[in-house]
Amino acid sequence: MSKKIIAIVGTYRKGKTIDTAVDELLEAARQQGAQTEKIFLLDKHIEFCTNCRCCMQQPGEKRGDCVLDDDTKRILDGIDAADGIVLAAPVNWFNVTAVMRVFIERLVPYGYWPWGAHAPKNRIKKPTKKAVIMTSAAPPEFIARLLYPGAMSVLKSAAKCVGAKVESKIFIGMAAQTQDQTVPEKYKRQLADAGKLLAS
Ligand SMILES: Cc1cc2nc3c(=O)[nH]c(=O)nc-3n(C[C@H](O)[C@H](O)[C@H](O)COP(=O)(O)O)c2cc1C
Repeated sequence: MSKKIIAIVGTYRKGKTIDTAVDELLEAARQQGAQTEKIFLLDKHIEFCTNCRCCMQQPGEKRGDCVLDDDTKRILDGIDAADGIVLAAPVNWFNVTAVMRVFIERLVPYGYWPWGAHAPKNRIKKPTKKAVIMTSAAPPEFIARLLYPGAMSVLKSAAKCVGAKVESKIFIGMAAQTQDQTVPEKYKRQLADAGKLLAS
């Protein structure tokens, strides 16, 4: 059976670093027979989480129901139906972009946090899908990894909460050195391998 892969893309620039990197990965996955979908967060209507915690009150493994009516439910249904996910967003101000963080805050229905409990718990205890997480930043990769560990940890915790195990972390350095720069050539092999991994 062919694998379903959904990519959640939190860049502001279509056709540039993160977007073209995701395209490379998804193309490699399709060549292995996977079905792919790319969600460009900026094209979607995603409200801010209001912290009402209604979705976190019902017990059980199934994600809670959010009271907001926007595109988030359909995106989360897509994630739940997928075998593999890609979470990809550039570093802006030391962490992933605001549009990605708005989306990540809306993952709270995957948590159980009844009033009176000190801390939330992930509903999904055992991962059933694979994840690739990806970010990009201005410095060379080894410096960027040291400077911005928070970007990868946010993406990792988001993957975990939707029931995905991170299999590959791709950090693209020297991003956007020119206005029209796309994903640097040297990352294409890594991206193709990650695509194959999700498709397997
Ligand atoms: C508002 C803003 C904030 C940024 N903050 C950082 C930063 O803190 N560290 C960094 O290395 N790059 C930073 N950058 C550069 C982006 O990481 C870079 O442009 C991005 O990785 C390119 O991805 P894209 O081509 O998908 O837009 C910032 C860019 C903008 C526009």
